[in-house]
Amino acid sequence: MRIGLGCDHGGYNLKLEIIKYLESMNIECVDFGTNNGEESVDYPVYGEMVANAVVSKEVDYGIVCCGTGIGISLAANKVPGIRCAVVSDVFSAKMSKAHNNANMLSLGERVLGKGLALEIVSAWINTEFEGDRHSRRVNMISEIEKKHSK
Ligand code: RB5
Repeated sequence: MRIGLGCDHGGYNLKLEIIKYLESMNIECVDFGTNNGEESVDYPVYGEMVANAVVSKEVDYGIVCCGTGIGISLAANKVPGIRCAVVSDVFSAKMSKAHNNANMLSLGERVLGKGLALEIVSAWINTEFEGDRHSRRVNMISEIEKKHSK
């Protein structure tokens, strides 16, 4: 599994912890920046970069972080084909994969402690999409996207 990661300054430290954790599990990480937590940068830039890497299949999944996880997820979700879930608990992490087939996960460094954040990442990467009736609903999301991009 290959995971693309991105963040703004507000999510920088959490991104580093996630990369350390994923690499300890022998999961390949591609870091799209930002590369320090000091300089204020714009989260849409990094949300879009990771989202592009997911839709082009350069990576299998994306994980992004900002202060809340909200702004960077909103940006990622503007890229057609992206389903980026902002998650703050383990149950939602599992459901975002099992039912919604989320291909990106977004976390807030100013919301979550490191321990919970890594539990969420672990639950997310270890959960499979259940397909079946959920496929129909996920396809309906894609149809909305197509309808509005004409
Ligand atoms: C940056 O201060 C902050 O607004 C950003 O990290 C994020 O929380 C936006 O949603």
